[in-house]
Amino acid sequence: MRTRRDFLKIAAALAAAGLVAPGCASVVAARVRPVDGRVRLDPAEHPGLAGSGGFLRLQPDGFSGQVYVLSTGEGYVALSPICTHLGCTVEIQGARLECPCHGSTYDRGGQVLRGPAERPLRSFPVRTTPDGIIEIDLTWEGAP
Ligand code: FES
Repeated sequence: MRTRRDFLKIAAALAAAGLVAPGCASVVAARVRPVDGRVRLDPAEHPGLAGSGGFLRLQPDGFSGQVYVLSTGEGYVALSPICTHLGCTVEIQGARLECPCHGSTYDRGGQVLRGPAERPLRSFPVRTTPDGIIEIDLTWEGAP
C-alpha cells in the first residue's frame, strides 16, 4: 500500500522528468490543520516546495481562503492569493503571480509589478524552525 509520502515522491519525480505540467501540482490545495493559528509544514513531505520555483497551495481548516507558500530558494513566503485590486484569485506563473481578471502581476514576494492593483498581496509571517519545519502564522493581521 502506498502512503501519501510515496505519492508525493512519485509526483515530484514525474514533474522533474517533465511528465507532468508544472501547473498541475497547483490544482489541488493541501488541506492542513492549523494549531493555535499556525500551520507547520515538513518540507520533506511537500517536494513541490523544493527549489527557488517551488510552491504549494494550502487550504487550512477553518481558514476562509487558500494560502500560497512559495520557495524563494533562501526561504519561504506565504501569501494570500486574493488580488488586491478587486479580489480575483491570482495564479502562480513561474516567477510571477498573475491575476486573470485585469492583469495585475506580482512578484513571488507579493509585491506589485504591474497594476491596476496598487497594494501587495497579503502576506503571513513565515519562519523555519531549527529542525527545518516551516511555520506559518495565519493569525497575523498586518497590512495589507
Ligand atoms: S481583480 Fe486582479 S487585476 Fe483586477
